[in-house]
Amino acid sequence: MNPDDEVCLCFHVTLRKIRTFLDREEPPVASLVSECLGAGTGCQWCVPFLKHLHRCHAEGKPVDLKISPEAYAKSRKSFHTTGERDVEPEDSPES
Ligand code: FES
Repeated sequence: MNPDDEVCLCFHVTLRKIRTFLDREEPPVASLVSECLGAGTGCQWCVPFLKHLHRCHAEGKPVDLKISPEAYAKSRKSFHTTGERDVEPEDSPES
């Protein structure tokens, strides 16, 4: 993903905003990422991805999602229809 791509599509929270929040606030638990403009408090789709980003930050790894915004949005739509996740942060294909 690029910095201006949205991680939380419900609340239009971009990857850049999440990165800035993690750097500035150093949230001790992933659930506190919700304090970044309500990320993850809508449909819940992005929650595993927010957890992944929080874990990357905590481990000093690049804070990124290896999925294109198009594939991400498509998977979210499928999740809303089926209730099943067809992609997880760790097994996201390269964007
Ligand atoms: S995409 Fe983040 S709560 Fe729906």
